Amino acid sequence: SVKAKIGPSVLNADLSQLYTESQRLMDCGADYLHLDVMDGNFVPNLTFGHPVVKCLRNKITDAFFETHMMVDKPEMWIEGMADARVDQYTFHTEPVSDVLGVCRKVKEAGMKVGLAIKPKTPVETLVKYMDQADLILIMTVEPGFGGQKFMADMMPKVKWLRENYPGMDIEVDGGVGPSTIQACAEAGANMIVAGTAVVQSDNPQNVIETLRSTVAG
Ligand code: DX5
Ligand code: ZN
Repeated sequence: SVKAKIGPSVLNADLSQLYTESQRLMDCGADYLHLDVMDGNFVPNLTFGHPVVKCLRNKITDAFFETHMMVDKPEMWIEGMADARVDQYTFHTEPVSDVLGVCRKVKEAGMKVGLAIKPKTPVETLVKYMDQADLILIMTVEPGFGGQKFMADMMPKVKWLRENYPGMDIEVDGGVGPSTIQACAEAGANMIVAGTAVVQSDNPQNVIETLRSTVAG
């Protein structure tokens, strides 16, 4: 069976304090860091790239880093992120013509492969890639910004994945917190990204523990 893991997103943290905010989340019991990389093309927002991730890695040497690549050309950033010792390279399949080729390059670079889909993308489009994926990310908001409302109608995608690929890491991302985690747990998600709910809480440790205990059942 798959383990419940909580990966806070620092997107809505004080990015002028990316290191101390990230370290604080790990100290509060996070299992991994979810780093939202946006290129201003795939989504109408622009965050940070591999130079920043590499500097963060030089300060936080052992945490598990997942980069969520909300970019038009994920193959462009594989080398840079691998150099930053990113562990999980999760990219959107929508803008990519050769998904299997990108999966292969990510693995050759020594990172785990994650495939992400937006709310309007049917989950069945991933079937032909499933044996190359280590993780599937189901967006529960339209990507681009933190602090949006959780889309409960994405849960059938999670349920379908858990039924057809019981050993797969299934991640939910967007609007997830103590008030929406139950639906995610019931649908079968085991990797939980939470941004605002954790980062803007006055007790992030408590929120992380609540999320994990709900999923772990
Ligand atoms: C949105 C990002 C999410 C977001 C999550 O495009 O991919 O990771 O930062 O933040 P909340 O939990 O606030 O929706
Ligand atoms: Zn994300």
